[in-house]
Amino acid sequence: MAGNSIGELFRVTTFGESHGRGLGAVIDGCPSGVSISEEDFVFEMERRRPGTRPFDTQREEPDRVEILSGVFEGKTTGAPLALRIANQDVDSSPYEILRTLYRPGHADFSYEKKYGHVDFRGGGRSSARETTARVAAGVVARKILEADGIDIKGFTTALGGVYASKIDRRAAESNAFFCPDPGALEGMERALQRARGDGDSIGGIVEVRVSGCPAGLGEPVFAKLDADLAGALMSVGAVKGVEVGAGFEVAGRRGSENNDPITPDGFSSNNAGGILGGVSNGDEIILRAAVKPIPSIAREQKTVDRQGRPASLKLTGRYDTCAIPRILPVLEAMVAIVLADHLLRSRSARFRQG
Ligand SMILES: Cc1cc2nc3c(=O)[nH]c(=O)nc-3n(C[C@H](O)[C@H](O)[C@H](O)COP(=O)(O)O)c2cc1C
Repeated sequence: MAGNSIGELFRVTTFGESHGRGLGAVIDGCPSGVSISEEDFVFEMERRRPGTRPFDTQREEPDRVEILSGVFEGKTTGAPLALRIANQDVDSSPYEILRTLYRPGHADFSYEKKYGHVDFRGGGRSSARETTARVAAGVVARKILEADGIDIKGFTTALGGVYASKIDRRAAESNAFFCPDPGALEGMERALQRARGDGDSIGGIVEVRVSGCPAGLGEPVFAKLDADLAGALMSVGAVKGVEVGAGFEVAGRRGSENNDPITPDGFSSNNAGGILGGVSNGDEIILRAAVKPIPSIAREQKTVDRQGRPASLKLTGRYDTCAIPRILPVLEAMVAIVLADHLLRSRSARFRQG
């Protein structure tokens, strides 16, 4: 099973399964001198952790990150940085029904077709639990970015068909959904409660904004910044679409509307979402990820068993009603990992004398 690494200079590999002994990340190429302690991971891991909000899956996972290597006297050494998160609240019994049945909307069917087996206890590598390792690696990436004044923030701009119509950063920090529009919050909460009451699930949109990113990140042609960011976001389970800047709206516009005029003080609009020609232009980077409804639902669904015989499936385990807001720190982490990699790569792009 290849494809577990991302990045060139800041290269993150994740490992582990949801119901194995633990998960983690190895970061190869992390520069030396980055201050890091196990405490630094607590905040972000708590944001991703289930069971912290009433509508989350009630699995209790302390998600403490252990630093196994690559740090000496509180600073990275430049050697591989290995991070480990133990699985402590592992109860595989609710998954017993999945020993023989595929979950519609999940990865069971396609994994079995590819590998000839499937880890029915939560999906193994396809489980959202794998994203703990991404969040841990993202904490290290953020440290590198913060030193250059680069900040990453995610917002829930849609949930269950209710859309935010403004981005109020302060408002987003004061509610559990990271909803940036106080006017949309109640509707989002209602949509979530309704879906939960129906034994169903909902999706939404997460917008990630990056401020302070310098011009010059991104490598044409196959490592364009927008291509790498889109790939990183799409690598997160349940993400089904990514937009950059004006996104799909550009298709219906004229060039005169869509071009961002350039003035001596900078761009006077930001339809490009901070990226031109695959290279950051110094403006705010704006990304949106469409998140599908959680596949595991408590409603009866048609499926087949491993022999292809028709069956029906009604799940009773501990599942999220929506991947939002838990997915937010994961998406921020993926953006951080890509930007840290490109920031380090950009430093070797041009010879500067003196
Ligand atoms: C933070 C997060 C939480 C998730 N929680 C669940 C869950 O409780 N139950 C579930 O069936 N899927 C959950 N998912 C979605 C599945 O991981 C995802 O749908 C599955 O891996 C199939 O991949 P795909 O949706 O990209 O095709 C979650 C995803 C994320 C990112």
